[in-house]
Amino acid sequence: MEKEKLEEIIRQVISNMQKKSLIVAGNWKMNMTVREGMAFLQELGEIGEDDKVILFPPYTTMAVLAEEFAKRRIVFGPQNFHEQDSGAFTGEISLPMIRELGCSCLLAGHSERRSYYGETDTSINAKVRKALREGFQVMICIGEQLVERQSGRWREVLENQLTRDLQGIPRAQLSKLYIAYEPIWAIGTGITASVDEIADTHACLKRRMNAYLGQELPILYGGSVNEKNAQQIGKIVEVDGFLIGGASLKADSFKKIIEVCRQ
Ligand code: PGA
Repeated sequence: MEKEKLEEIIRQVISNMQKKSLIVAGNWKMNMTVREGMAFLQELGEIGEDDKVILFPPYTTMAVLAEEFAKRRIVFGPQNFHEQDSGAFTGEISLPMIRELGCSCLLAGHSERRSYYGETDTSINAKVRKALREGFQVMICIGEQLVERQSGRWREVLENQLTRDLQGIPRAQLSKLYIAYEPIWAIGTGITASVDEIADTHACLKRRMNAYLGQELPILYGGSVNEKNAQQIGKIVEVDGFLIGGASLKADSFKKIIEVCRQ
């Protein structure tokens, strides 16, 4: 039997042995008014007790619907935040403001924040360290450009992002972190990375974590995940969940993905 086939079978067997429910995180980006958010929740209906659902809504929708999320056991938090508690930072939002709403998990370093708003690994690291000190969970996004994937530089790019974003984080706080691997070329394009690319990349990142941190952090895959491809990607052993943009805006799609993740 070919080596790759054998490896795939072994992966599947391990996957079946380790059955776990996957984390389903939705990034609403600059979408969903309060009214739309409420309609979404009504259509979504009940969330199972063992489902692990996280939402990153816009600030306004999050503030008004905080109780509705909490009632449904949906973990929620902002798509961005500032590392200072208060001050002259026009347009920013701080952790005390977020805490008041009952947020527990924050998103950091999304590729759109990096490319449109100049966020760097250094600024992301500062935010993440502050949020962890304050007791929040944080989901850090990393991802490579298409040219970096095609040239084979993706390994180096991702390992650098990971190492820089995690620099100086005390061991005791690592259990509050998630990594979302989102190839930039797959975000909002309808193109997902292949099963082999995802398995390979997540395995590579987990090796790097073992070497650098002495432990593995959960890694979610993001980039054009939808109700049609979630099952196949969810079977990859190294995938611990999804970070979903477009398909998290439609209650029926999101619900189907949650069902697929209930393994
Ligand atoms: P997408 O977005 O699912 O629409 O590709 C993912 C993301 O940006 O987090």
